[in-house]
Amino acid sequence: MDASQKKQSAALAALQFIEPGTRLGVGTGSTVNFLIDMLPDVRDRIDRLVSSSKASTALLEKHGFEVETLNEVGDLDVYIDGADESNKRLQLIKGGGGALTREKVLAGAARRFVCIIDDSKLVGMLGKFPLPIEVLPMAQEFVAKRLVKMRGQPIWREGFVTDNGNHILDVHDLQIPNPLEMEARINRIPGVVTVGIFADRSADILLIASDTGVREMRV
Ligand code: 5RP
Repeated sequence: MDASQKKQSAALAALQFIEPGTRLGVGTGSTVNFLIDMLPDVRDRIDRLVSSSKASTALLEKHGFEVETLNEVGDLDVYIDGADESNKRLQLIKGGGGALTREKVLAGAARRFVCIIDDSKLVGMLGKFPLPIEVLPMAQEFVAKRLVKMRGQPIWREGFVTDNGNHILDVHDLQIPNPLEMEARINRIPGVVTVGIFADRSADILLIASDTGVREMRV
Protein backbone atom coordinates (compact mmCIF):
# COMPACT_ATOMS: atom_id res chain seq x y z
CA MET A 1 0.00 0.00 0.00
CA ASP A 2 1.43 3.44 -0.84
CA ALA A 3 1.19 6.49 1.42
CA SER A 4 -1.79 7.84 -0.43
CA GLN A 5 -3.78 4.59 -0.01
CA LYS A 6 -2.92 4.59 3.69
CA LYS A 7 -4.13 8.17 4.05
CA GLN A 8 -7.37 7.12 2.40
CA SER A 9 -7.87 4.22 4.84
CA ALA A 10 -7.18 6.46 7.84
CA ALA A 11 -9.74 8.95 6.55
CA LEU A 12 -12.31 6.19 6.05
CA ALA A 13 -11.78 4.95 9.62
CA ALA A 14 -12.44 8.45 10.96
CA LEU A 15 -16.01 8.46 9.63
CA GLN A 16 -17.13 6.27 12.56
CA PHE A 17 -16.53 9.23 14.91
CA ILE A 18 -19.11 11.35 13.10
CA GLU A 19 -22.30 10.51 14.97
CA PRO A 20 -25.79 11.87 14.23
CA GLY A 21 -25.99 15.59 15.08
CA THR A 22 -22.21 16.18 15.01
CA ARG A 23 -20.82 19.70 14.96
CA LEU A 24 -17.73 18.86 12.94
CA GLY A 25 -14.40 20.61 12.50
CA VAL A 26 -12.41 19.70 9.40
CA GLY A 27 -8.64 20.11 9.13
CA THR A 28 -6.35 20.65 6.16
CA GLY A 29 -4.06 18.59 3.94
CA SER A 30 -4.02 15.63 1.59
CA THR A 31 -5.27 13.13 4.21
CA VAL A 32 -8.17 15.41 5.10
CA ASN A 33 -8.92 15.92 1.42
CA PHE A 34 -9.71 12.19 1.24
CA LEU A 35 -11.99 12.64 4.25
CA ILE A 36 -13.78 15.58 2.65
CA ASP A 37 -14.43 13.52 -0.46
CA MET A 38 -16.09 10.88 1.77
CA LEU A 39 -18.21 13.31 3.80
CA PRO A 40 -21.15 13.34 1.36
CA ASP A 41 -21.74 9.68 2.41
CA VAL A 42 -22.38 10.80 6.02
CA ARG A 43 -23.99 14.15 5.21
CA ASP A 44 -27.13 13.35 7.25
CA ARG A 45 -25.03 12.89 10.40
CA ILE A 46 -23.40 16.32 10.20
CA ASP A 47 -25.25 19.11 11.97
CA ARG A 48 -22.81 21.99 11.42
CA LEU A 49 -19.41 22.33 9.80
CA VAL A 50 -16.32 24.50 10.41
CA SER A 51 -13.09 24.36 8.40
CA SER A 52 -9.47 25.17 9.25
CA SER A 53 -8.48 26.69 5.90
CA LYS A 54 -9.67 28.37 2.75
CA ALA A 55 -8.53 25.29 0.78
CA SER A 56 -10.67 22.88 2.83
CA THR A 57 -13.61 25.29 2.73
CA ALA A 58 -13.42 25.43 -1.06
CA LEU A 59 -13.45 21.63 -1.31
CA LEU A 60 -16.30 21.30 1.20
CA GLU A 61 -18.35 23.86 -0.71
CA LYS A 62 -17.68 21.99 -3.94
CA HIS A 63 -19.41 19.03 -2.29
CA GLY A 64 -22.38 21.26 -1.44
CA PHE A 65 -21.67 21.73 2.28
CA GLU A 66 -22.39 24.98 4.07
CA VAL A 67 -19.26 25.98 6.00
CA GLU A 68 -19.80 28.26 9.00
CA THR A 69 -17.35 30.15 11.20
CA LEU A 70 -16.34 28.94 14.64
CA ASN A 71 -17.90 32.12 16.05
CA GLU A 72 -21.25 31.04 14.61
CA VAL A 73 -21.04 27.40 15.67
CA GLY A 74 -19.37 27.69 19.09
CA ASP A 75 -18.01 24.43 20.45
CA LEU A 76 -17.31 21.44 18.21
CA ASP A 77 -18.07 17.80 18.98
CA VAL A 78 -15.30 16.38 16.82
CA TYR A 79 -12.29 17.79 15.01
CA ILE A 80 -10.63 15.55 12.41
CA ASP A 81 -7.24 16.44 11.00
CA GLY A 82 -3.96 14.97 9.79
CA ALA A 83 -0.48 15.60 11.18
CA ASP A 84 3.12 15.62 10.05
CA GLU A 85 4.37 13.64 13.07
CA SER A 86 2.91 12.06 16.19
CA ASN A 87 4.63 10.52 19.17
CA LYS A 88 3.11 7.77 21.32
CA ARG A 89 1.60 10.35 23.67
CA LEU A 90 -0.36 11.71 20.70
CA GLN A 91 1.56 14.97 20.78
CA LEU A 92 1.91 16.26 17.24
CA ILE A 93 3.81 18.38 14.79
CA LYS A 94 1.39 20.08 12.39
CA GLY A 95 1.53 22.88 9.86
CA GLY A 96 3.08 21.23 6.82
CA GLY A 97 0.15 22.72 4.92
CA GLY A 98 0.53 26.06 6.68
CA ALA A 99 -2.89 26.03 8.36
CA LEU A 100 -1.61 25.42 11.90
CA THR A 101 -3.13 28.46 13.61
CA ARG A 102 -6.71 27.77 12.61
CA GLU A 103 -6.11 24.07 13.18
CA LYS A 104 -4.99 24.75 16.73
CA VAL A 105 -8.05 26.88 17.37
CA LEU A 106 -10.44 24.20 16.09
CA ALA A 107 -8.63 21.43 17.99
CA GLY A 108 -8.94 23.55 21.12
CA ALA A 109 -12.66 24.10 20.55
CA ALA A 110 -13.38 20.40 20.02
CA ARG A 111 -14.53 17.92 22.64
CA ARG A 112 -12.69 15.21 20.72
CA PHE A 113 -9.69 15.53 18.37
CA VAL A 114 -9.27 12.60 15.99
CA CYS A 115 -5.94 12.61 14.15
CA ILE A 116 -5.47 10.56 10.97
CA ILE A 117 -2.00 9.55 9.76
CA ASP A 118 -0.12 6.87 7.89
CA ASP A 119 2.39 4.81 9.86
CA SER A 120 5.45 6.69 8.52
CA LYS A 121 4.44 9.63 10.73
CA LEU A 122 4.53 7.82 14.07
CA VAL A 123 7.89 8.69 15.66
CA GLY A 124 9.76 8.13 18.91
CA MET A 125 10.68 11.79 19.30
CA LEU A 126 9.18 14.79 17.50
CA GLY A 127 11.46 17.00 15.41
CA LYS A 128 12.61 15.15 12.34
CA PHE A 129 9.90 16.92 10.37
CA PRO A 130 10.87 20.63 10.17
CA LEU A 131 8.78 22.44 12.76
CA PRO A 132 6.42 25.00 11.16
CA ILE A 133 5.95 28.29 12.99
CA GLU A 134 3.52 31.01 11.83
CA VAL A 135 5.02 34.45 12.45
CA LEU A 136 4.09 38.07 11.93
CA PRO A 137 5.93 39.24 8.77
CA MET A 138 7.51 42.22 10.59
CA ALA A 139 9.01 39.89 13.20
CA GLN A 140 10.42 37.19 10.92
CA GLU A 141 14.13 38.04 11.29
CA PHE A 142 13.81 38.53 15.04
CA VAL A 143 12.03 35.20 15.52
CA ALA A 144 14.51 33.42 13.26
CA LYS A 145 17.44 34.66 15.38
CA ARG A 146 15.76 33.36 18.54
CA LEU A 147 15.30 29.95 16.93
CA VAL A 148 18.99 29.83 15.94
CA LYS A 149 19.85 30.48 19.61
CA MET A 150 17.73 27.41 20.40
CA ARG A 151 19.94 25.43 17.95
CA GLY A 152 17.34 25.21 15.21
CA GLN A 153 17.88 26.00 11.52
CA PRO A 154 14.97 28.23 10.49
CA ILE A 155 14.10 28.43 6.79
CA TRP A 156 11.45 30.72 5.38
CA ARG A 157 8.73 29.06 3.34
CA GLU A 158 9.30 31.22 0.30
CA GLY A 159 6.32 32.76 -1.41
CA PHE A 160 3.87 31.31 1.10
CA VAL A 161 1.35 33.50 2.92
CA THR A 162 -1.02 31.93 5.44
CA ASP A 163 -4.79 32.41 5.39
CA ASN A 164 -4.15 34.95 8.18
CA GLY A 165 -1.66 36.99 6.11
CA ASN A 166 1.42 35.77 7.97
CA HIS A 167 4.62 33.91 7.07
CA ILE A 168 5.85 30.40 7.92
CA LEU A 169 9.26 29.55 9.30
CA ASP A 170 10.20 25.84 9.00
CA VAL A 171 12.73 24.98 11.71
CA HIS A 172 15.08 22.10 10.90
CA ASP A 173 17.24 20.07 13.30
CA LEU A 174 15.28 20.84 16.46
CA GLN A 175 15.31 18.07 19.04
CA ILE A 176 11.96 18.05 20.85
CA PRO A 177 12.27 15.64 23.81
CA ASN A 178 9.78 17.70 25.83
CA PRO A 179 7.04 18.95 23.46
CA LEU A 180 4.99 20.70 26.16
CA GLU A 181 7.95 22.75 27.32
CA MET A 182 9.11 23.54 23.77
CA GLU A 183 5.60 24.60 22.70
CA ALA A 184 5.33 27.04 25.60
CA ARG A 185 8.88 28.33 25.07
CA ILE A 186 8.43 29.09 21.36
CA ASN A 187 4.99 30.59 21.95
CA ARG A 188 6.61 33.11 24.30
CA ILE A 189 8.80 34.61 21.53
CA PRO A 190 7.22 37.93 20.52
CA GLY A 191 5.99 37.79 16.93
CA VAL A 192 5.19 34.08 17.01
CA VAL A 193 1.54 33.59 16.10
CA THR A 194 1.47 29.81 16.51
CA VAL A 195 4.02 27.03 16.83
CA GLY A 196 3.15 23.74 15.13
CA ILE A 197 3.66 21.63 18.26
CA PHE A 198 0.30 20.31 19.44
CA ALA A 199 1.21 19.08 22.93
CA ASP A 200 -0.88 21.26 25.23
CA ARG A 201 -3.85 20.18 23.13
CA SER A 202 -2.74 16.80 21.79
CA ALA A 203 -4.97 14.39 19.87
CA ASP A 204 -7.47 12.26 21.79
CA ILE A 205 -7.57 9.48 19.23
CA LEU A 206 -4.89 8.61 16.69
CA LEU A 207 -5.81 6.47 13.68
CA ILE A 208 -2.68 5.01 12.10
CA ALA A 209 -2.99 3.35 8.73
CA SER A 210 -0.47 0.70 7.72
CA ASP A 211 -0.30 -2.23 5.29
CA THR A 212 -2.15 -4.39 7.80
CA GLY A 213 -5.05 -2.04 8.50
CA VAL A 214 -5.90 0.93 10.71
CA ARG A 215 -4.80 0.89 14.34
CA GLU A 216 -6.29 3.13 16.99
CA MET A 217 -4.29 4.73 19.81
CA ARG A 218 -5.66 6.74 22.73
CA VAL A 219 -3.88 8.35 25.65
C1 5RP B 1 -1.69 21.24 7.57
C2 5RP B 1 -1.37 20.10 8.45
C3 5RP B 1 -1.58 18.73 7.91
O1 5RP B 1 -2.44 18.03 8.74
C4 5RP B 1 -0.26 18.01 7.84
O2 5RP B 1 0.66 18.82 7.10
C5 5RP B 1 -0.40 16.65 7.16
O3 5RP B 1 -0.67 16.83 5.81
P1 5RP B 1 -0.96 15.62 4.83
O4 5RP B 1 -2.26 15.02 5.25
O5 5RP B 1 -1.03 16.28 3.48
O6 5RP B 1 0.18 14.64 4.93
O7 5RP B 1 -0.97 20.23 9.58
O8 5RP B 1 -1.34 22.48 8.15
